[in-house]
Amino acid sequence: MTQSGRVFILLGAPGAGKGTQAQRIAETYNLFHIDTGHCLRSEIASGSELGKQAKSYMDQGQLVPFELVMQVIKASLLRIPQDKQGVLFDGFPRNQQQAYGLDQVLEELQIRIQAVLYLDISHSVLMDRLAYRVTCSRCDAKYNLKLNPPKQDAICDACGGELIIRPDDRPEVIENRLKTYASETEPLIRHYEERSLLRRIDANQPIDQVFEEIRHQISPFFHSSDTMLV
Ligand code: AP5
Repeated sequence: MTQSGRVFILLGAPGAGKGTQAQRIAETYNLFHIDTGHCLRSEIASGSELGKQAKSYMDQGQLVPFELVMQVIKASLLRIPQDKQGVLFDGFPRNQQQAYGLDQVLEELQIRIQAVLYLDISHSVLMDRLAYRVTCSRCDAKYNLKLNPPKQDAICDACGGELIIRPDDRPEVIENRLKTYASETEPLIRHYEERSLLRRIDANQPIDQVFEEIRHQISPFFHSSDTMLV
C-alpha cells in the first residue's frame, strides 16, 4: 500500500455484521482486511504467548489490553501487500485509547481515515444473529443457521472447514460483550461524528442491502478504474 492508501473503519456492536460485510468490502475495493478478533483467535490457536494472554479476556467478553492489541495492529500493518488500495479495520478501534493509538500509527505512515462505517442495528435483530451464528474454524467465514445457512451442515462453503459455535457466543458471554460494547465502544460513535467521519448504515436489513448502502458511502473515495466491481 502506498501513502495514497485509504483507511476505513467498520464500527458496530457484536453481531452487527462487521465480519460479513468486511469480506465483501475488502474484495470489492481491494482493501487489506484487518480483523482484530480473527487475529487474536489465530494467536490463541497457534499457542503464542500473546494468544495465551488474550484468551482469558476474550473468554469473558472483555476487551484485550491495549498493548496486546497494538502489537497485533502493528504486525498486521507490516504485512500489507503493495498492490492493496488501503486498509479496512474490522473491530478496531474499540475504545478511545485505541482510537488515539490508531491516529498515532497513521500519522507515522502519513495516511488518514477516510470514513467510519457504523453498522447501526436494533437489539432484537442482533440477538438473533448471535444466537444462530456458526463460524468456520479454518477461515473465520460466518454463517447463520436461521438467516444465511451453509449449503452443507457444519461445513464451510468457502473452504470446506468445520463450522463451530465460537466459545464467546455462549449467552452469558454475549451479555458481557454487549455491556463492554456499550461502555467502551459506543462513545466512539460520537468521537467520529465530531470529526465528520461517521457514516451511519442501517444494519437491520438483509446482507445485500446493507452492502449496497456501504457501497454508496465508499465508492466516492475510489475512481471507477480502481475497483474490481463498482
Ligand atoms: P470480534 O471477533 O471482533 O467479535 P465482535 O466484535 O463481538 O463481532 P462479531 O464477530 O461477534 O460480530 P460481527 O459484527 O462481525 O457480525 P457477523 O458478521 O459475524 O471480537 C471477539 C473478541 O476479541 C472481543 O470480545 C474482544 O475480547 C477481542 N477483541 C477483538 N478486537 C479487539 C480490540 N480491538 N480490542 C480489544 N479486544 C478485542 O454477523 C453475525 C451473524 O449474523 C452471522 O451469523 C452472520 O451470518 C449473520 N448476519 C450478518 N449480517 C447479516 C444480515 N444483514 N442479515 C442476516 N444475517 C446477517
